[in-house]
Amino acid sequence: MSAAQAVAVLLDPKANHEPVAAYEALHAHGPIVQVADGYYFVSGYEAVAGVLRDPSTEAYDARRLDQQWSDWRENRAVEIFADSMLRTNPPQHTRMRRLAAGVFTARRVAALRDVITAQVEEALDALPPEGDLVTHLTYPLPIGVITALLGVPAEDRGRFRRLAEALTAVLEVRWTAEDRRLAHEAALELEDYFTHLLAQRRAEPREDLVTALAAAHDADGGQLTAAELMANLTLLLVAGFETTTNLLSNGIVLMLEHGNKIDDPAAYVEEVLRFDSPVQLTERYTSKKTLVGGVEVPADAELVLLLGAANRDPARFTDPGVFDPGRTGNAPLSFGAGAHYCLGAPLARLEAQITLPALARRFPGLTPQGKPVRRPRMNLRGWSSVPVTLEGS
Ligand code: HEM
Repeated sequence: MSAAQAVAVLLDPKANHEPVAAYEALHAHGPIVQVADGYYFVSGYEAVAGVLRDPSTEAYDARRLDQQWSDWRENRAVEIFADSMLRTNPPQHTRMRRLAAGVFTARRVAALRDVITAQVEEALDALPPEGDLVTHLTYPLPIGVITALLGVPAEDRGRFRRLAEALTAVLEVRWTAEDRRLAHEAALELEDYFTHLLAQRRAEPREDLVTALAAAHDADGGQLTAAELMANLTLLLVAGFETTTNLLSNGIVLMLEHGNKIDDPAAYVEEVLRFDSPVQLTERYTSKKTLVGGVEVPADAELVLLLGAANRDPARFTDPGVFDPGRTGNAPLSFGAGAHYCLGAPLARLEAQITLPALARRFPGLTPQGKPVRRPRMNLRGWSSVPVTLEGS
């Protein structure tokens, strides 16, 4: 496959959910490829890491969005991500990140270990002898954990899978008019939901993250605006489970293929993150002329950073196409790097490190029942269904 053919595959929403062959073709070409005027795909590990850590590259550029899609502000989903930490630049990003990190602390996450373990055991107890692990485990579990952390009432959990799937479509490299419409509607529904929840928590504060985030102030008196609060709550809820769901389903499918055995949960999860990254890409914009992978990129260029490709770069990883949980020096870019490094990485790792070994231990005879089905998306990569029988056949 040529680099041009690889780019065509990655830009095709019907084909890009199977990107690995295209990544290999890009690696043969070099760490960066120009796709169009001011538009590049970056696939090399060092080049992607360098851009993520370069403070002069920006996570958001309204001018480029305006050029691509003049009425993007009318889509609430795009606007919500644009108002959140994920897509803002300093100093707005620095202020929001400080406030969110102040409430989303390592202590709060560590305190969740027992909650997660209990929820995993409960979910495993309830698994039907035959069925789909996405429906029965990899969706409900991270939804249960993030809603417990945020303080979202348990009875509302049922609606979040549909809403997150619709909303995150706008994080893909390409989306259809129908994707946009459903994402917009999902954003409005979530906004309505959080408006009511925030009013309740302000009237009756609780020991939860919604209350803490609404009240958060930093040392300089900085606070989240109403729009920022809404955007970051939505981001935390949606990023907090959709990605983790995919990490779990990717890990389970790999486990089924490699003998249901996990010796070192931490190393195992890092290799799942590398081999089948739950987030395959993110984007940055250059604010000045920048050297990326040895190529001079002009100011105001859009860089699609292919995290999933970087994690399979043969210049960085020996036998990148081999799933090897015994790998040493594994440092995948699956949670990004630099100022926007994933706030939830410790939580996602903890959930996977508890769930995958518990499943393997409890059901040594776990066997696929038919083929798992890939999510029809490139960026948020996971499985739509993983049918299994618990005791083998
Ligand atoms: C940012 C991946 C789970 C919250 C990011 C970024 C990546 C990522 C790649 C950086 C995006 C960029 O630089 O443009 C993942 C993966 C996860 C996961 C692979 C699971 C396997 C979570 C969880 C939470 C979370 C559980 C919260 C509970 C966030 C937030 C940001 C972020 C708030 C934005 C940080 C910022 O821009 O400063 N995530 N994430 N993520 N993630 Fe995660």
